[in-house]
Amino acid sequence: MKKENIIIFDTTLRDGEQSPGASMNIEEKLKIAHQLARLKVDVIEAGFAFSSQGDFEAIRCVGMEVKGPVICSLARCKAQDIDVAWNALKDAEKPRIHTFISTSDIHLKHQFSMTKEQALERAVKMVQRAKGYVKDVEFSPMDATRSDFKYLCKVIEETIEAGATTVNIPDTVGYSMPHEFGALIRRIKETVPNIKKAVISVHCHNDLGLATANSLAALKNGATQVECTINGLGERAGNAALEEIVMAVKTRKDFFHLNATANTKEIMKTSNMVSRITGLVVQSNKAIVGANAFAHESGIHQDGVLKMKQTYEIMSPSSIGLKRSKLVLGKHSGRHAFRKHLNDMGYEFSDDKINNLFERFKNLADQKKEVFEEDLEAIIADDTYRIPEHYILKELFVSSGIGSKPNAKVTICIEGEDFKAQGGGDGKVDAAFRVIKKITKTKYKLVSYSVKSITGGTDAQGEVSVRLKGKDQIVHGTGADTDIILASAKAFINALNRMHYKISKKKQRSL
Ligand code: KIV
Ligand code: ZN
Repeated sequence: MKKENIIIFDTTLRDGEQSPGASMNIEEKLKIAHQLARLKVDVIEAGFAFSSQGDFEAIRCVGMEVKGPVICSLARCKAQDIDVAWNALKDAEKPRIHTFISTSDIHLKHQFSMTKEQALERAVKMVQRAKGYVKDVEFSPMDATRSDFKYLCKVIEETIEAGATTVNIPDTVGYSMPHEFGALIRRIKETVPNIKKAVISVHCHNDLGLATANSLAALKNGATQVECTINGLGERAGNAALEEIVMAVKTRKDFFHLNATANTKEIMKTSNMVSRITGLVVQSNKAIVGANAFAHESGIHQDGVLKMKQTYEIMSPSSIGLKRSKLVLGKHSGRHAFRKHLNDMGYEFSDDKINNLFERFKNLADQKKEVFEEDLEAIIADDTYRIPEHYILKELFVSSGIGSKPNAKVTICIEGEDFKAQGGGDGKVDAAFRVIKKITKTKYKLVSYSVKSITGGTDAQGEVSVRLKGKDQIVHGTGADTDIILASAKAFINALNRMHYKISKKKQRSL
């Protein structure tokens, strides 16, 4: 039996970006979009063009540069939204406009003060308007799972009649149970007379931890497009995780009889990239991409895996691109070998960039005998995701020990001038952060701090991730170093630079 292809619609850059603190700049979105194309997703929802100038530009750049997947912009059922979405998508090879309006009584009555008839009329008009610009139009009845079934079917039927080529059924608040959601999709398929003219898509949120289960139940019942995000990012508890959907469909071909064309070997790389860019660390026990997803701890399991992998492994680590830590280069490796190794890892950089990275590699190799591929990835990330540096950390000296209070001395260069200060704190990291705050005169609240070891061993690099909360934004910062106090200070300064960059961009826009 020939397996039907499912359509993987990635919304990391739109719904994923709605995770608090996950906002990305255009360069970062472009990097992720290129990686999503390597992962071979079918559709990239690159943003919500009308929502901000940044989103508009990001969609435009992704549309111009990223070839392969369909590039999509979200738009409310409003004329201006549709027009702006089209303007952002004009240069895309395969553009799609995705328009939506709520259909549940609770949303229509309490949020939008609209009648059902008004919402239906607006949906039809706006699908027609989008159709005037592009062939590929997606329509979503928001909060579909809490909508009146008869009305939902009417809206679906009329929007298909108006030209929608995909109808997406969102479980906006993550309310549905898998058997209910599967049954809803089946009922829609059996009830809407013109449903065959459109692709049935689903978009599930994870409020009850059921986003993946609901999406899979929908696939089993006739949906052929799934909307999902890398690492399950998204509004509140997030969206269905792309890696879980794709690996479930591939691992249980016998059950789904479906095919996903995504290149699963790119999953790990994409997950790491999204985590580094957004600063949202993946929990260790996260399915597929968590650090422990392929780690066998119990003796019985280890024994089984050594005898035959399949005893406790339903997927191979290599199928998601997970490699054993590979010893790469050492202190004596030259520039040529370094470049060649980066090329083998899939990176092509200019001479200038190679020189920068090589210098950092040499410094690291001096501190650490063995440099692994993960270390190189961290150096590349640290160098690549940098933003203009308003604050430059020039010196850091921190002391503490039994019987002596932690004390930090810091020098930061701000606009060409060096500022020095020192002071104590509850531990080395706290002392360093307090002094950095003193010098930079910032009052942002530190909302999270985490450290992870990039490879094993006491000389491993520590990768630190921090999140700072300002008046109306959250930013993250990352830093890597073999010294975790220095990595922490770098992460804090990186977050301050991001905050400064964001605020100055906002000011420029309002001038
Ligand atoms: O969750 C939701 O309903 C959405 C729509 C815009 C599709 O994100
Ligand atoms: Zn959503």
